[in-house]
Amino acid sequence: MEAPRDVPEPDHWFEPIAEHLGSAYLRYSFTRGTVQECDFLVSHLGLTAGSRVLDVGCGPGRHAHELARRGITVHGIDISQCFVDLATTDAPRGATFERMDARKMTFDGGFDAVISLCQGGFGLLTGQGEDEAVVRGITKAMNTGGVAAMSAFSSYFSVRYHDGATFDACTGTSHELTEVRSATGASKQVDLWTNCYTPRELRLLLRLCGLHVESISSVEPGDYALRPPTTETPEFLVIARKTE
Ligand SMILES: C[S@@+](CC[C@H](N)C(=O)[O-])C[C@H]1O[C@@H](n2cnc3c(N)ncnc32)[C@H](O)[C@@H]1O
Repeated sequence: MEAPRDVPEPDHWFEPIAEHLGSAYLRYSFTRGTVQECDFLVSHLGLTAGSRVLDVGCGPGRHAHELARRGITVHGIDISQCFVDLATTDAPRGATFERMDARKMTFDGGFDAVISLCQGGFGLLTGQGEDEAVVRGITKAMNTGGVAAMSAFSSYFSVRYHDGATFDACTGTSHELTEVRSATGASKQVDLWTNCYTPRELRLLLRLCGLHVESISSVEPGDYALRPPTTETPEFLVIARKTE
């Protein structure tokens, strides 16, 4: 019989959801664009073999694995032990993972780039100021001259198109009651909270945390590109640099 895994007490509302989803997370269509997204990141963040990348809220490690296969050294952190275990299983050489809360990161330099994609660790917070703690941790983890790529859910898109979700205009949070299925097909009702942003808020937040925003683009999963922000795509992708 398999020994029971030592599952920590949840620190975050997403942990039981990740535990239920397990590998079924990778069945969601939004995870299918990993190769295109990594092509874009390699090219626009200037990543080369030997670059050191931190993946904040790495989930089951799809970007970390793809980048490591290209010779990049990637360390992924995630609040979900279940996702960290999945990411560690069959990880290619150069990809390592640990359970860590993005709000409490203690890295002090050492990374050429930081990625936080698909709301990873940045957009699934609910407390006031928690996003600032995450961005400050990201800034601190980077070497001077380092670059960050972060995706954030769009407030405009949420208000216009996110049927079935409630948007809290005061906090910019979207709230959705929905159903998720495990790898064995078991269904579970969950409460999903997503922090949403406008490009202006992203610029202000990142500047406050010591990053210089180089671009904010309207993107969707599997279609990362540099293009002006609009109200029509679910996510904004920010590229920002630590200049001093
Ligand atoms: C929608 S998933 C995205 C995962 C991955 N970046 C991807 O693109 O597939 C968001 C991830 O962020 C993680 N997360 C949320 N809050 C976090 C926190 N405070 N610290 C670390 N990870 C967090 C979740 O556990 C989840 O794996």
